[in-house]
Amino acid sequence: MKLGVNIDHIATLREARGINEPDPLEAVFIAKRAGAYQITIHLREDRRHIHDDDVLKIANSSFLPLNVETSINENIIKYLLKIAPHRITLVPEKRKELTTEGGLNIKNNSSTIQKIIDDFHKVGTEVSLFIDCNCVEQCAKLGADMVEIHTGLYANLHLMLFSNLPRTHNTINELSKLRLELQEGLNNSLIDIQEAAKIAKELKLEVAAGHGLNYNNIEPILNIEEITELNIGHSIISRAIFTGLEQAIKDMLTIINSKQ
Ligand code: PXP
Repeated sequence: MKLGVNIDHIATLREARGINEPDPLEAVFIAKRAGAYQITIHLREDRRHIHDDDVLKIANSSFLPLNVETSINENIIKYLLKIAPHRITLVPEKRKELTTEGGLNIKNNSSTIQKIIDDFHKVGTEVSLFIDCNCVEQCAKLGADMVEIHTGLYANLHLMLFSNLPRTHNTINELSKLRLELQEGLNNSLIDIQEAAKIAKELKLEVAAGHGLNYNNIEPILNIEEITELNIGHSIISRAIFTGLEQAIKDMLTIINSKQ
């Protein structure tokens, strides 16, 4: 299982002060030293963390493959086509969201997505689509190389069941349910992920997973053999505040490698 470390939140901290540190580029070198497989960054339309110059700097300096998440925004796509990173991952974006909520709406954007896939293939960049579990077949039809299955619901249910989140101001209101219902939801969300991964593999798509994965919830995901890559950001950067980034990545890799 390969680990992509999402370093957006290093830039979130930088933007909180509006100066030039901490620099996400420094995180790239630390991630490599710690054994990460890939660097993942999200160039959002609102530029709330990663900016255009970060993408260029990281693409030019990283010894690790670079996976850039982006919406289907025309200007960002044009910019990324010039950079031609190793991979782009198309994600949905809503201006007010705290983080990417849900997968791409493939059906409503299929011709745009098709063109983006074709254009990136011409410059040698792989294309992954960040999706909910129910639209794997459409991704294969469009010629994507990879799908990344959105694990957000699974992760949220896990937090509501096994952490103190429901007792805090950040409780997830729509998941304020009886434990029995949460457990059933968690089991079902895992089955959905397993089935989507299986279909994707059968359709010859590479399969990644990501969103909300952390040190406590990745184990069942590691058991899904069709999934070969995880992209993890918030939990690693959160731990890094206390342990340092290198140790935080190594801790995640220890769990991942214990399953292989
Ligand atoms: N994968 C994708 C496609 C994402 O959009 C994100 C969030 O930016 C992640 C992985 C990482 O999610 P998290 O920060 O919750 O680990």
